[in-house]
Amino acid sequence: MSAYIFDKLRELEEKNAYPLHTPGHKRNIRFMPYDFRLYDYTETEGTDNLHIPEGIIADAQKALAELIGADSSYISVNGGTGGMMASVLACCEPGDNVLVASNCHKSVYNGLIMAGVNPIYISPQITEEGLCGGISIRDIFRAFESYDIKAMIITSPTYEGFTCDVRTIADIVHKHNSILIVDECHGAHFIFSDVFPASAISQGADVVVNSWHKTLPCLNQSAVLSIKGGRIDESRIKEAMSMINTTSPSYPIMASVDHARELLSKDKNLFSSYIQILKEARHELAHCKTLKLVNDSIKGQCHIADVDISKFTIMVRTELTGVELGKLLLDKYNIRIELAGLHHIVALTTVADDSKGIKKFVKAITELDKKYERKFIERIPLSAAPVSIPKMTPRDVWFSKRETVGYEDAIGRIAASSVIPYPPGIPLIPMGQIITKESIETIRQLKAAGISVIGAENGSITIVQE
Ligand SMILES: Cc1ncc(COP(=O)(O)O)c(C=O)c1O
Repeated sequence: MSAYIFDKLRELEEKNAYPLHTPGHKRNIRFMPYDFRLYDYTETEGTDNLHIPEGIIADAQKALAELIGADSSYISVNGGTGGMMASVLACCEPGDNVLVASNCHKSVYNGLIMAGVNPIYISPQITEEGLCGGISIRDIFRAFESYDIKAMIITSPTYEGFTCDVRTIADIVHKHNSILIVDECHGAHFIFSDVFPASAISQGADVVVNSWHKTLPCLNQSAVLSIKGGRIDESRIKEAMSMINTTSPSYPIMASVDHARELLSKDKNLFSSYIQILKEARHELAHCKTLKLVNDSIKGQCHIADVDISKFTIMVRTELTGVELGKLLLDKYNIRIELAGLHHIVALTTVADDSKGIKKFVKAITELDKKYERKFIERIPLSAAPVSIPKMTPRDVWFSKRETVGYEDAIGRIAASSVIPYPPGIPLIPMGQIITKESIETIRQLKAAGISVIGAENGSITIVQE
């Protein structure tokens, strides 16, 4: 018998690979100078209660709202996942039409099931190199003109650090008396510098969820939901947050958010020196040709409003796949990255990074860039309808009987779970949608090109039983 998880973590500790991934504290003691064992408390005299905060937790949430520029902020100890589910539950009722960017995280899809709403999917634009961009403003206009929409949900920034034009989207949404919910899980750090894209709250969003553990020095699972503008019933938000949070919330998680807020808002030098390191690293990476850093020049294309410079999104234009590059970085350079796709990788940095770690990454990419020849990468066009309505709602699909069948037998049937090629991570067939002959053909092409297609493994797809 072994302590399986513990032993593995001890092994990783010994290998000490440089972490260009979440959680954002990067195990850096300077940003987490405390022993969690001593701070693992429960609701007792003086420690307040996350579900009815009146003391230290209420004060911490108030300070968060002030920093974020929100009317109110609420801590989630169930990550951005909990925050997104609570947003849908608090803002929508069964039968409401909700305009959902199809590149939303699965927590949003799960929220749709729980709330029993009718989703209308809107597809983001896809860049020339196959990454997910922003949402077309014209498509949003059309959707609002065609349907009575209670709320719209978007992801901004994407995993790769691209934001939507939240200001314009919020204006359209509000003109139609609707609510804008923004999954800003990858952008909790935006509030700390103008060098990063403007925060969704500052751009008119009504509900915003930030995973503090992703891009700030906080423990995994820490997130903050914020509201602004008075368009939503705050008591519903409080109740929904209480639904998604455990009744034994982790004080170390809550304390890590509170500590990061205090530390980073007091010591402005922390972000200014980090940003200097980022700028230098990006300047050096700009010389690479086969391992091409995605930079500001992508702004304005495919409705991308801005680019987060903390993310090193690198297009792999060689015979290597992104996955192979990720493996090389780990095996040869002892660097662990956040994401490896077929033709790109994402290395995630935060204020808690060590300049030596970032330099080590830049050196590795520069070396590998010289080693591999440039190769033309052929893309498989992923055509999704700009706006589509599934045949069955996610909730009806969830409660239906399902069966798993081969690709051919799935044609004309209703998908019981979303079929998602990765990258870019947008459902080709959202759950509840009819599976067409064309989409099966695209799945075959994608698989032949080595792209993983979630929900279409082993030549089969799960469908709703007739
Ligand atoms: C876009 C997006 N939203 C939400 C989440 C969920 O956030 P968390 O991991 O904090 O639960 C993720 C997680 O990767 C994500 O990528």
